[in-house]
Amino acid sequence: MAEKILVFSGKGGVGKSTVTAAISKSLSSAGKRVLCIDADAGFKSLDLMLGVGNAVYNWLDVINKRCDCAGATAFSEGLPDFLSAPSGLDDGFNSENLKELFEQLDGSYDYIFIDSPAGWGELHEIFSDVCDRALLVTTADNICVRSAETAASKLRKRNPLIDIKLIINRFDKSQAIRGGQLKLDDVVDGVREGLTGVVPEDRTMGKMPEGDMLSFKAQAAFDRISKRITGQDVVFNPKAL
Ligand SMILES: Nc1ncnc2c1ncn2[C@@H]1O[C@H](COP(=O)(O)OP(=O)(O)O)[C@@H](O)[C@H]1O
Ligand SMILES: [Mg+2]
Repeated sequence: MAEKILVFSGKGGVGKSTVTAAISKSLSSAGKRVLCIDADAGFKSLDLMLGVGNAVYNWLDVINKRCDCAGATAFSEGLPDFLSAPSGLDDGFNSENLKELFEQLDGSYDYIFIDSPAGWGELHEIFSDVCDRALLVTTADNICVRSAETAASKLRKRNPLIDIKLIINRFDKSQAIRGGQLKLDDVVDGVREGLTGVVPEDRTMGKMPEGDMLSFKAQAAFDRISKRITGQDVVFNPKAL
């Protein structure tokens, strides 16, 4: 059975889609069977970040029986499989139908990532019903930290058993020393969820849609997170940031 992982945040623009693409690529390179689902209906971007082609069908088409799973999935050599987002939601999008979709997908993957829109709403509630785990993405500033904590408490209210882990993205050590960003401890204290990774501020991240490689430092950060997702015990080393 696949582990279903919801990627979510309080504020937008903190790097959910970037993080989803980079972690799922890292797991794919390690030989895992990975599917990425873009759940950001209307504002999709994960196809660009993954470098997969423009999909004709999306997961809501599968739910509404306009096409089957294989027909909607983009399969690209060396990349995670991908299901595109619809441009909007309709009556077909409900908990029962989504559970059926995931039952069809379950046996084919080790990990299914769901890249969600910012904040918390009905879409998150319905997707969180089918997820075992969640990755909460925040940047190291007070606004994003407070909204991350709010989003996590809403998720836990809906799905009390879900395992939530925190990723701090765009961390800049020199800024944190100078007071321009929060320190890692302050972010963890503010969000109150277990930390599973810190991703540095890195200009190569913006080049992912062009297919450019990430810097060694950024790639290493994602590889550490993906190993932790598979259950490996990777020691946290602040010097690596
Ligand atoms: N660690 C990082 N370093 C530098 N830029 C980043 C980093 N993570 C994300 N970005 C940039 O931030 C912007 C928003 O990222 P995105 O993944 O679209 O956020 P979200 O999905 O949360 O809205 C993108 O332009 C992306 O390239
Ligand atoms: Mg996004």
